[in-house]
Amino acid sequence: MTWLKPLATPDAAEHAYTAYFADLEARLSDPATNRPELVRELLSELVYGRSYATLQADAPLLALNLDSRNVTFEAEYYMATDDAAFQRVKPLLWLWKNVDLTPLGHNPLFGIPLRQVLAGHIFKRVGRNFKCWQNVEFSVGYNMEVGDDVVVHRNVLLDDIGGIELHDSASVSDYVNIYSHTHSVLDGPDVTLRKTVIGRGARLTYHSTILAGSVVSDDAMLATHALLRGNIEPHGIAMGLPARTTRLKVRDSGPVEGIDSRTHEAQPPRKANPQFPEPTPNQTRRVDEAAEPVMARMGFVAGSKR
Ligand SMILES: CC(C)(COP(=O)(O)OP(=O)(O)OC[C@H]1O[C@@H](n2cnc3c(N)ncnc32)[C@H](O)[C@@H]1OP(=O)(O)O)[C@@H](O)C(=O)NCCC(=O)NCCS
Repeated sequence: MTWLKPLATPDAAEHAYTAYFADLEARLSDPATNRPELVRELLSELVYGRSYATLQADAPLLALNLDSRNVTFEAEYYMATDDAAFQRVKPLLWLWKNVDLTPLGHNPLFGIPLRQVLAGHIFKRVGRNFKCWQNVEFSVGYNMEVGDDVVVHRNVLLDDIGGIELHDSASVSDYVNIYSHTHSVLDGPDVTLRKTVIGRGARLTYHSTILAGSVVSDDAMLATHALLRGNIEPHGIAMGLPARTTRLKVRDSGPVEGIDSRTHEAQPPRKANPQFPEPTPNQTRRVDEAAEPVMARMGFVAGSKR
């Protein structure tokens, strides 16, 4: 069963797009391709409708900014980023981001196949029919593992520095944030990486947030606006802040074809910067509101003139 309508692409557009993506795939698959040079040329044509050489002559600053070697990404400032892996995918992430800012990127007939081609050369793994809408942001891209028929909707943050797995038919709704790193409470620069796993057929619904190391098992669901910091069992529906599994899906017809009930394993944490000491177990304590009124905690003593 499907709720999607098949939309036909006009022939002329279909031919133009098919030829464009076949050519792009061939150029990206060629190990001799200089990726920053290819990307600056493509962006010059797609965004400014002219060759890179003429843009460079007439508008040198615009031209400079199309070359990913003249740009930094936030990930490059962090020790946790594998620089060699990142430099390889950086030009492609720059192409992805820049096209998202253009009318072409907001045309799914062009934007979705472009992202499929790019994902094939950025992600660790991507399956069939990856459907990614516009304005999706990655931390490094190279730590994404994506199965078949996965959908990622608009304005999603996929912080894959510690790894994100999206299993077959998983769906990530608008404005979802998935994290795979966290910071020590006492020492911000002490970062822990933890892969986040979203199971087969699982759905993360609008505006929900998934913290590092969480596991959403097969066919489970995270309710809108929920904050997940743990696991959801297969078929479970977790809600609230922090999210708790309070409901289970009920299907009179039994399991849906193609969706199984695997419980995915939580992945062990890894320190991003091993020079930091192992954390002490208790880095925070619960505030006892009754015994410590707010004013006392802030240092005010009854009767003092301070
Ligand atoms: C989680 C969700 C699926 C529940 O739907 P439902 O089964 O029809 O739920 P109901 O409206 O009958 O509510 C059931 C209970 O869950 C609570 N609840 C529902 N959504 C909630 C949410 N986002 N956060 C906290 N509690 C929620 C309701 O208050 C109700 O609580 P009660 O039993 O104490 O009265 C739905 O609220 C949701 O978040 N949908 C997201 C939209 C969506 O489907 N997106 C898909 C994009 S891939």
